[in-house]
Amino acid sequence: MTTVLITGASAGLGAAFARGFAAKGCDLILVARDTGRLKAVADELAAAHGTLPEVLPADLLDPEQCRAVAERLADPARPVDILVNNAGFGLPAPFPYSPVEDEERMLDLLVKVPLKLTHAVVPGLRERRRGAVLNVSSVAGLLPTGTYGAAKAWTTAFSESLRVDLAPYGVRVLAVVPGFTRTEFQERAGMDVSALPDSVWLDADAVVARALKDLSLRRPLSITGLRYRLYAQAVRHLPRTFVARKMARDRRPPAQAPEQAQNAARPEAAR
Ligand SMILES: NC(=O)c1ccc[n+]([C@@H]2O[C@H](COP(=O)([O-])OP(=O)(O)OC[C@H]3O[C@@H](n4cnc5c(N)ncnc54)[C@H](OP(=O)(O)O)[C@@H]3O)[C@@H](O)[C@H]2O)c1
Repeated sequence: MTTVLITGASAGLGAAFARGFAAKGCDLILVARDTGRLKAVADELAAAHGTLPEVLPADLLDPEQCRAVAERLADPARPVDILVNNAGFGLPAPFPYSPVEDEERMLDLLVKVPLKLTHAVVPGLRERRRGAVLNVSSVAGLLPTGTYGAAKAWTTAFSESLRVDLAPYGVRVLAVVPGFTRTEFQERAGMDVSALPDSVWLDADAVVARALKDLSLRRPLSITGLRYRLYAQAVRHLPRTFVARKMARDRRPPAQAPEQAQNAARPEAAR
């Protein structure tokens, strides 16, 4: 039996990963802050597939709670085969209009937490010569899109590098690179996405289905939708100066004054 630990499993893409892996008959460990919502996801999956997932509530920005998740990942008595680093949030205002503490919390959740959890799980995966790490990145990481995009660029680069290092051990690494996906992400970040056309939006279950297929094909990146695959190709091959000019033209002023910024970086925003 394959055991999968998913961070940010109480909503959005994390809950979709839980559904996708449960449908494949995997045992699950669900991590996020909101215990009630995690239990609801677990109950729904137990009703559908007959196996009750383990619920491991944790605020991954709390060092002690993050350590507890890392210890669960490293426990040789209860091996975890697949880690999905998914928990994340964005900020409402471009740099430097969000409080620096919020910038630090975002960087910690998007970069330091996956680094620590991957560091905990990889020795066991290497020893057992099986398993995988999936890191949820973003198409924002392909472009000059502020500190969120910079953190996601790290996620993709880290994944591609780790994939090379772990290939000789039979361990897979996949960077999941979604475009705009219908989840709670934009609302939590206080982003106004009302002007975006329907055609840009992806479905979370479709992103996960594509990711699981790409994982089985041992691909390095998983990008859902022809539009985003073409976009990624174009960004890779166009001159960086051209891309930068285009981004500068599209850049908008901050949607909110910094003092009004309410966002998922704050613990009180946790559901
Ligand atoms: N939606 C998009 O358009 C999009 C596009 C590209 C990439 N992504 C990436 O996809 C990933 C998942 O986001 P989503 O779209 O599914 O957003 P979402 O619906 O807002 O879900 C975010 C998840 O992260 C958890 N989380 C947030 N802070 C946490 C913390 N401190 N400790 C533990 N868990 C925490 C939340 O649960 P609790 O509140 O219960 O803790 C929730 O389960 C993120 O890494 C995001 O950057 C999203």
